[in-house]
Amino acid sequence: MSNDELQTQWDARYAKNSDIPQACQALREFSHLLPAQGHALDLASGMGGNALLLAKYGLTTSAWDLSPVGIEKLNNLATQQSLIVDGQVRDIINNPPAANSFDVIVVSYFLERQLFPALLAALKPSGLLFYETFVRDKPQGVGPSNPDYLLEQNELLALCDGLVIRAYREEGLIGDVSSGVRNVAMLVGEGV
Ligand SMILES: C[S@@+](CC[C@H](N)C(=O)[O-])C[C@H]1O[C@@H](n2cnc3c(N)ncnc32)[C@H](O)[C@@H]1O
Repeated sequence: MSNDELQTQWDARYAKNSDIPQACQALREFSHLLPAQGHALDLASGMGGNALLLAKYGLTTSAWDLSPVGIEKLNNLATQQSLIVDGQVRDIINNPPAANSFDVIVVSYFLERQLFPALLAALKPSGLLFYETFVRDKPQGVGPSNPDYLLEQNELLALCDGLVIRAYREEGLIGDVSSGVRNVAMLVGEGV
């Protein structure tokens, strides 16, 4: 799909979405690992649930997404909540974050494997990457069906090789699959 088509698709979704966006579970559960200050990025932010939480925690927060509608909604929500978020329309594949530029990067429900080297390099020393997205071995029919957008077993760990893993959750399909967090893998890694 071209960027124009992607933008049109996501703009249409966000235009009819009046929900307040939530931060992903990895960021909510492990928010106690966030530094007291620094520059954070919500990458492929959509309407910016992660960005709003990062700003609430006092971090200087940027959010980048291809969708102008998503970014406009995020910027409006931030203003309504008296938060400062620098939301920008940006193609993160052609224009990834610069090396050594962020203390915290959060990516939820977006998977472009080619981006990982730039993502890891964009962390400042001891910077944190929070990542959460769908896995192939998921019991429920939620999320994309295209396997290109689904993580294989342990793949998120492999993509983040070089980080110190501070938290990881990937439960697979063992045991009682009606319990637990089954559709996603989540990781918090620290740059060295
Ligand atoms: C499934 S949504 C996830 C949004 C948000 N992170 C969340 O968890 O709700 C995927 C997002 O990726 C964005 N996106 C896709 N390709 C992109 C690109 N090349 N550059 C920037 N954003 C992109 C879409 O506009 C969309 O907002």
